[in-house]
This record gives sequence, structure tokens and C-alpha cells, in this order.
Amino acid sequence: MSDYRELHHKYEFEVYPKRDVVLVRGKGAHVWDDEGIEYLDLAAGIGVASIGHGNEKLAEALKQQALNLITVPGIFYNDTRGKYLEKLISITPKSLTRAFLSNSGTEAMEAAIKFARFTTKKTDFIATMRGFHGRSLGALSATYKPDYRDDFMPLVPGFSHVPYNNFEKMEAAVTENTAGIILELIQGEGGINIADKEYVKQIRQLCDDKGILFIVDEIQSGFCRTGKMFACEHYDLQPDIMTVAKAIAGGVPMGATLCSDKINIELGKHGTTFGGNALAAAAGLATLEIMEEENLIQKAAENGDYFANKLREIKSDKIREVRNVGLMVGVELKEKVKPFLVELLKERVLALPAGLTVLRLMPPLVISREDLDIGVERIAKVLS
Ligand SMILES: Cc1ncc(COP(=O)(O)O)c(C=O)c1O
Repeated sequence: MSDYRELHHKYEFEVYPKRDVVLVRGKGAHVWDDEGIEYLDLAAGIGVASIGHGNEKLAEALKQQALNLITVPGIFYNDTRGKYLEKLISITPKSLTRAFLSNSGTEAMEAAIKFARFTTKKTDFIATMRGFHGRSLGALSATYKPDYRDDFMPLVPGFSHVPYNNFEKMEAAVTENTAGIILELIQGEGGINIADKEYVKQIRQLCDDKGILFIVDEIQSGFCRTGKMFACEHYDLQPDIMTVAKAIAGGVPMGATLCSDKINIELGKHGTTFGGNALAAAAGLATLEIMEEENLIQKAAENGDYFANKLREIKSDKIREVRNVGLMVGVELKEKVKPFLVELLKERVLALPAGLTVLRLMPPLVISREDLDIGVERIAKVLS
């Protein structure tokens, strides 16, 4: 058997520190390594595999579309993309009437930034501390973490960062050049930090008063994860632009920048070879059907609270707080989380960090209560 770790070390241009496991197969909320060892997946990729691994309906849709037509660039119309766009717009907040399809979260953000600049003819954006919006230069300019940014200066000018959940600081940062405010309603990578309802309402009002675009990043929180189709619904929020990716197509790469009627762009000013390709559109369509058929909104809402409450019962002086919205769950520790991720892997559990001290748990939404109980048991073992 090949040593797959060695092949990576030898040939991959590495950007991530690796976990010591070679994953080869998945089914539902379980994955297996190259030696046949089973792991409980509380990471779902990085919040991607919401419909679970190895879904047969998705595989069948991909097979059919692959046999029909995989690639159709945006210069042509396409049946599958047409159907998908109609479906996508039917489930997003009412204010959003059109979608630009791309291939990832960071590309969805790039388009949002360009569309906002083009629409407003202004240049600047206000984002928040601990916010994460991607790694390409525009999206990275909205991302907060100095460690991700500092080696790549100068980034796109005009971006500022204000403390999260602090409306006064947000309002004070507005200038006559502000094109948009960029916000995660629940910060994922930044630590599962949840925006206050009043804060979001005030930002919406501020944007309306000043002619600023409210750009909501639902790349991590979208598609049933928080117990609603989109986290916007918890806030009764109608954004001007919303970016999505991750769980959108069951793991097939896709991103989307959803726009309200306020947003405009001239033909020829933006584009992508792969964005909106028929294969990804077929995957997106099948994924939305699976989410509906399997009641994943309700499952995320009910099982999220069940799971978080069980985690709150763990007796460990290492835990500061457990936060959740649906199955977007953070266990804030009093110490660094990395060593516990290594220990959890030994207990056959895949989990994620968020910031330095938060254990981020985002299982496939199809996970059973029995598996959530097993997850709690193993987390309790590692944290006690
Ligand atoms: C909130 C948020 N925005 C943007 C991104 C960037 O998405 P991608 O990694 O697909 O470029 C992520 C990815 O983790 C994210 O969580």
C-alpha cells in the first residue's frame, strides 16, 4: 500500500498543518481511514457535508449530469442551471432576487465586494474583528486575523474592522466612502460568536439611512446549519447581498453571491469559467431536495439544542461556555483547543478549532442522537 502521508509531504504545496489520518470513505456522519478505522465526523469537512457523506441521491444526480453535460460556461444558457437558480432564489430571503454562481466562499465574497463597489461607486467596507471571509486578496481584506493578513500587505485599501456586537463603533466607522458593511451573523472561524438581534436591526437601519449595502456572509451558517435555511431568518433580516458556499452543493465546490434589486453590474465586468457549471448546479439542486426531504432544518434545530445541552452537562473545569445556534456549536475552553483536537482524533472523533480556544462542532445534519451521545461521551472523556 502507498504511504499516502508521504506522497502529500513530498508533492503537495502544503498550506495546512495536517491531522494524522488518511480519510478515504464516508457514509452519513461517519468516515473511514485507509486502515478501515471508523471516525465520528463532527466537522463535516469544514461545515460542508451537511447532507452527510456518500449520499446516493446526490451521487445519482452527479452521474446523470456528468453523462449529459458537465461544463457550460455562463456565456450559454443551461437547463440545469436555470432550474437551480429558480430553486435557490425561492429559498433565500425575499430581498434577494438574483444569484451570481461561483466555486467557493472566497469567490462569492470577491464578487460581493466588486458588485458593491460598482453599485455604490464607493470604495470602502466595514467588517468586524474576528470575522472570517476567505483568503483571496479582496476577501482577506475583510478577514480580521492579523496572522492571515500580515505577510500579504498591502491588501485592498478601504477596509476597516470594528468590534463585533458593538453598534456604536460600527456607526462611528461609517464615512462618506462606505460602500458596504460585511458581517457574519454567527462568526464561525472566529469562535461561534452570535450577533445580538438588536445589533443586526440597528445595522440594517444604519445601512438604510446612509445608503450603505448590508452584506451578510452566510458561507458557514447557511443551508440549514443553524436550524433555519439561513441565519438571516433568526433576525428577520433582509440583506442587500448574501454570500453562500460550503454546504450549498453537498461537497461539490460552489459559491453564490445573492443580490437584491439594488445591486447592479454591467455585462462583462465580472466572470468565471467554472461558476454555475452544470455539474455543480445539479449537485446544488439535489442537495436542496435532500435537505427538504430529510427535514434538515428541523433536525439541526432540535438536535443542535439537544447536543449543546448535553455538552453543557459535561463536568469539566476546562469548559468556559457552550454556545450554539442549531448544529453550529462552540465549546469555549479556558485553554488552547489544539491539544484536545489531537486527543479527540485518538478517540476517533473529527472536530474543528475556532480561534485559539473554541472547539467547533459542526456534524453532518443527518447525524443521529445516538451518534451525538457518543460524541458527547468522547468529548467529556478528553476534557475531563
Ligand atoms: C464565514 C466564511 N466566509 C468565507 C469563507 C471562505 O470560504 P472558502 O474557504 O470556500 O473560500 C469561509 C470558510 O471557512 C467562512 O467560514
